[in-house]
Amino acid sequence: MARHIVARTSEIPPGGNKVVDIAGRDIVVFHVNGEFFALLNRCPHEGAPLEKAACVARLTSPEPGVYQRSRVGEMLRCPWHGWEFDMRNGQSWFDPKRFNIRSYPVAVERGDELQKGPYVAETFPVHVEDSYVIVEV
Ligand code: FES
Repeated sequence: MARHIVARTSEIPPGGNKVVDIAGRDIVVFHVNGEFFALLNRCPHEGAPLEKAACVARLTSPEPGVYQRSRVGEMLRCPWHGWEFDMRNGQSWFDPKRFNIRSYPVAVERGDELQKGPYVAETFPVHVEDSYVIVEV
C-alpha cells in the first residue's frame, strides 16, 4: 500500500469530512472523536456519496423499551435509503454478510516524521504546530 498525505488535521474539523482523489478513487476522510477514518465515498447499495451521510451513534436495545447509545458519531447513515455502516471498518448493519464499504488504514503523524529522503539540505529551526492525515491505499 502507498501512503498519501491528504490533509492537515486542522483542515478536517471534528464531525467534518474531506473528500480526496487517491489513485482515481474518491475517498472520504472523517474526523470523529479525535480519530480519522477513510472510506470509499460510495454506498455499496446504490452509490450515494457517503460524504453526505449522517454520523450517528450505535443504538442497541437489551430489552423492549430500553435503548443504549454508544460510539457516538461513528456510524454512517446513508443519505439515500438510510442503511447504516460502521465507520471503523465499513461493516453494514443492514445486511452484514453481503454489504460493506471499502475502508482504508488511516494514520496521523507529525509533519517532521513523514519521510526522509537521501539528501540533506541546510536547515533552519521550524516549529511544527499541526499534524497531517495520511491514508494508505
Ligand atoms: S444508496 Fe445507500 S442505502 Fe441506498
